[in-house]
Amino acid sequence: MRVTIAQIREMKQKGEKIAMLTAYDYSTAKIVDQAGLPLILVGDSLGMVVLGYENPIPVTLDVMIHHTKAVVRGTSQAMIVGDLPFMTYHISTEDALRSAARFVQEAGCQSVKLEGGVTVTEKVRRIVQCGIPVMGHIGLTPQSVNQLSGWRVQGKTPETASQLLNDALALEEAGAFAVVLEQVPTPLATLVSKKLSIPAIGIGAGSGCDGQVLVINDVFGLSDRVPKLARQYANVGDSMRQAVTAYFNDVKSGAFPTEKNSFTMDESILADLK
Ligand code: KIV
Repeated sequence: MRVTIAQIREMKQKGEKIAMLTAYDYSTAKIVDQAGLPLILVGDSLGMVVLGYENPIPVTLDVMIHHTKAVVRGTSQAMIVGDLPFMTYHISTEDALRSAARFVQEAGCQSVKLEGGVTVTEKVRRIVQCGIPVMGHIGLTPQSVNQLSGWRVQGKTPETASQLLNDALALEEAGAFAVVLEQVPTPLATLVSKKLSIPAIGIGAGSGCDGQVLVINDVFGLSDRVPKLARQYANVGDSMRQAVTAYFNDVKSGAFPTEKNSFTMDESILADLK
């Protein structure tokens, strides 16, 4: 049985911190799921960390569904959150509903995430009314990176701080089960978390949030550089580099494969062929 939105809400009520990580493929999702994390996000950050784009804008719903299917296959206990990509929920409420429905129906995730506050509440309300749990995402919203003029901390002025709080409250009112706060000053994120009855999950939003989310490539040391908001917990990149070099050298020297890695056959069949 997978984690439910009721359990996520209960974690906030009990003051239990909620950990979420991204995953984009079967093997990694399996590791995260087996570690017992309640939430796995198939983030559109895959555009950058898996596909090598500069930002998530080129990622399509078909690509997200493809990766989410793999994550769902590798997991059994975590709730999987599918990240609705750029322009799949912006044009109309109908569009948003259709995209969310494709995500849960085709990919098999249990909930969807979308970016924006007050401006997307009608869409959130409608998706939730149709039975699909929605996670909001405010603060730095990467799909608007060009409009925001870069990857900047949000909510530092009186106007933007008050807008951020309004956005969070509007998402809660529209029925979102949780909200991501990305790159928000700690005191503001702490205030927003306290004002909300749903969990606020921070990334670059300090320790006062109800939970935290990180991009798994940053955690594994697979990113080109670890951003200030993340912590690298392993250097998987170095291990992979060492393994690839060792394999390369073994093939060149003939040390791989050995008999242990090879298969035999009936000598008489070979003799006939010769
Ligand atoms: O796409 C993503 O990975 C995200 C998280 C950083 C919250 O949206």
